[in-house]
Amino acid sequence: MSIVTLSNGKKFFCETGVTLLDSAKKHGVVLEYSCRSGRCGVCKASVVGETGVIHHDESALSTEEIASGFILTCCRTALTDVRLDIEDLGHFAEIRIKTLPCRVDSFRRLADDVMEVVLRLPPKDPLNYLPGQYVDIIAKSGVRRSYSIANAPRQDGKLEFQIRQVEGGVMSQYWFEGLAGNDLLRLEGPQGTFALRNTSPTNLVFLATGTGLAPVKAILEQLSANPALVTGKRVWVYWGGRHAQDIYWVPELGSLPISFVPVLSRPDSSWEGRTGYVQDVLVQDGVDLVDAVVYACGSEYMIHSAKEKLVKSGLPHKNFYSDAFVSSN
Ligand code: FES
Repeated sequence: MSIVTLSNGKKFFCETGVTLLDSAKKHGVVLEYSCRSGRCGVCKASVVGETGVIHHDESALSTEEIASGFILTCCRTALTDVRLDIEDLGHFAEIRIKTLPCRVDSFRRLADDVMEVVLRLPPKDPLNYLPGQYVDIIAKSGVRRSYSIANAPRQDGKLEFQIRQVEGGVMSQYWFEGLAGNDLLRLEGPQGTFALRNTSPTNLVFLATGTGLAPVKAILEQLSANPALVTGKRVWVYWGGRHAQDIYWVPELGSLPISFVPVLSRPDSSWEGRTGYVQDVLVQDGVDLVDAVVYACGSEYMIHSAKEKLVKSGLPHKNFYSDAFVSSN
């Protein structure tokens, strides 16, 4: 058993063969994470001490990062006592991860390949979560997939999801061909640390591609319900798709001071809106990134490209929060 020390002095034990991320969680310490599979890079940390890779390859790290002593806490275990240059997320520790039964309350197509599914939970056992987090949904067959919750907590406790069809996907087959009202499923969550964490800069920018809109919509609902959080701020939402049919949502958020910019990468000739990639359009618009915080959710490509581009354009490194959608069949 090794001792792990964080940069704010917090310590926890890491058992042999258990990842740093899971060991922290087991001891009530929440570290930043998203995919838990080595692909998104959200759990990156610089380490002093010896670590071993287990379960997953660290595909999100570049050769240079590995050479400079960076590791992914979702992939590595500690072989000796180690120090990590990251802090824990104290307020997430109060949120308990639960496994709950749930039923399909309603569903409808938002686009040809996107289904909105609303799940209801046992009335006496609501899910306590932060807008932006995700849950694992577990089918009767035992197959599980991660989906972001698309709404801020509601009075009736129901959870909305925006589910994209994945060609050949086992779970997709259920959502798009087998789904029926009142179906019984299970969910485990809430998971992830993508949530509103910093609203101090003047510009709050949300970048989404595809169904990466779901957690952004949940956070916007949170802001809409608490407009004081964005008094004196500007809120930008850049949402990217390929074709016009991918833009299946328009904001209805009361008096929230929001600039909504849909962006298409492969528009047909009738499209009069912005074209290209969300991160490029944001930079073209001249939003002051030095005084901004960016929350990005969507494809791995968008997340990596946006981070690199926006930091080069003045965004402070620590003001980029992301949740990459990594697909599985
Ligand atoms: S790479 Fe570790 S949480 Fe995604």
